[in-house]
Amino acid sequence: MPLHRAIYVSDAVGDAATSLLVLVEILGESERNNRRDGLTGVLMRHAGRFLQLIEGPRGDVDRLLKRLRTDPRHENLRVLSDQNVSDRLFPEWPMALAQMTPDAARLLNDGSLDQLSAERAEALLNTAAQALPLPA
Ligand SMILES: Cc1cc2nc3c(=O)[nH]c(=O)nc-3n(C[C@H](O)[C@H](O)[C@H](O)COP(=O)(O)O)c2cc1C
Repeated sequence: MPLHRAIYVSDAVGDAATSLLVLVEILGESERNNRRDGLTGVLMRHAGRFLQLIEGPRGDVDRLLKRLRTDPRHENLRVLSDQNVSDRLFPEWPMALAQMTPDAARLLNDGSLDQLSAERAEALLNTAAQALPLPA
């Protein structure tokens, strides 16, 4: 089955912009569902926005995007890229949480997450994910 990768940015709504509990809840649901669906990727929350990369079978990526579009914890979901790919960038993570590290912030160039091109968004997530421990 062809492998697919989507990257989007969205605006966090209310508590979802700052609450650790909301983030933990999202990661819990993501871990459970993404293991089931063969999806992997990385999520970053920064300055009131979410940036997420999702990869896996096309149908499962599409179904997740559909659920995400109706999730009230964020709004204004803008897809930056949505394409077939040959390999996963994050094969070992059902959904990693990446922080804005100093190296990643350099790619942001004083801008905000929603001003990134698809290429730069991918590079930023990749750079931020380098600070992650390997999953157990
Ligand atoms: C920023 C953000 C990222 C999310 N990432 C995922 C994800 O990677 N996988 C997932 O299944 N749900 C994710 N969700 C939750 C979905 O929008 C949706 O609530 C969930 O998949 C529904 O799961 P359920 O059918 O088990 O209730 C995310 C939600 C938000 C707000």
